[in-house]
Amino acid sequence: MLMTDLIHQKRTGKALSDQEIEWMMHAYMQGDIPDYQMSAFLMAVCFQGMNERETLALTKAMYLSGETLDLSDVPGWKVDKHSTGGVGDKTTLVLAPLVASAGMNVAKMSGRGLGHTGGTLDKLESIPGFCIHLSEEAFKDQLRRIHVAIIGQSEKLAPADQRLYALRDVTDTVNAIPLIASSIMSKKLACQTDAILLDVKYGNGAFMPDRESARQLADTMIGIGEAFGRKVDAVLSSMDEPLGYAIGNVLEVKEALATLKGRGPKDLTALCLHEGARLLSMCEMGMTEKMAYRLLSEKLLSGEAFDIFRQMVAFQGGDIEYIDHPDRFAKTRYQIHLKTRTDGCIQSINSYQLGLAAMHLGAGRQTKEDTIDPDVGLVLKAKIGDHVKKGEPLLTIYANTLPSQAFYDTLWQSYVLK
Ligand code: URA
Repeated sequence: MLMTDLIHQKRTGKALSDQEIEWMMHAYMQGDIPDYQMSAFLMAVCFQGMNERETLALTKAMYLSGETLDLSDVPGWKVDKHSTGGVGDKTTLVLAPLVASAGMNVAKMSGRGLGHTGGTLDKLESIPGFCIHLSEEAFKDQLRRIHVAIIGQSEKLAPADQRLYALRDVTDTVNAIPLIASSIMSKKLACQTDAILLDVKYGNGAFMPDRESARQLADTMIGIGEAFGRKVDAVLSSMDEPLGYAIGNVLEVKEALATLKGRGPKDLTALCLHEGARLLSMCEMGMTEKMAYRLLSEKLLSGEAFDIFRQMVAFQGGDIEYIDHPDRFAKTRYQIHLKTRTDGCIQSINSYQLGLAAMHLGAGRQTKEDTIDPDVGLVLKAKIGDHVKKGEPLLTIYANTLPSQAFYDTLWQSYVLK
């Protein structure tokens, strides 16, 4: 087979056979297909798409490119949750210990932030000492003891996705449903949990622009999961404004801690309870979503979920002084209020721009090699539907270097007031 033939086939809208997809992924992982040819193929997929069978074959080839994590010797249900990426999305920090507090094992491999979206690993690493690398045995032992562990993706699981994702990120080929679905599901299948809940985000801060395309992505991923005999469900959630108020690693950890103490923002708390309840109801324990919601609300208010988070930090080497006294986190050199220039009601917020702004402050990476400044970011003071008076702050900028005028202009342009 020749890669140029496969590129031509896809570019001209023809479907590839399972054997062709299998051969292509194998040859790519062997180093027999260079990145520039794979990039051309990915771009052709962005324009021409893939049918259901091709998407399934691609997922299978990526999933089988590495090892699988066998969790069968951890007793009880093992569950996983994955977000398609958003701004201010600290859901996992709350949801994982919350679901664990109900006795479910949350076996979570998380990713790093890239571009305008944040990543759970970067947030956790902003807690001094927190280690995201655990051996397979330590990971399982932690699950047996406290029902939750959050680690970085092992190089051995779905390595084809790691290579393809890095390539897609720099060739503007992230945003295609078959590519996103196969990327996410190859990782989820490799980590053999019993139930997987997908948080598919849509809106101006997400990869999917609207609810319809999010539904399409969700259905594609559910279909893949079912084809492999796995229990998969999806929640669609809006990213038309940041989730909660904080964007940036330490700032988001602090907001997650407040949420775990029952004092979090309404939208974040509601989403975590909704997703947690859905996950519990998937576990065939005779619990309806309504019952699970009530149980998890109690776990939040009683402090049990917070306590599990604290234990997870201790198990993974983090300094719990920061969890008990969040004021210990370093303060940025500058804290600047962005004030409104007119009275009005906030009609819309461009989450993508705010995510990019936080990244430019140092909260995220522009390239994989960039280092993160954990303390910087933005904290919104008002959200859509809130009325603000001239001179009141829209948000606070936490920075260690003074932002440029262009930076402020971008922030102004992110808000529409009427
Ligand atoms: N998250 C992933 O893991 N892969 C994608 O392609 C997009 C979001």
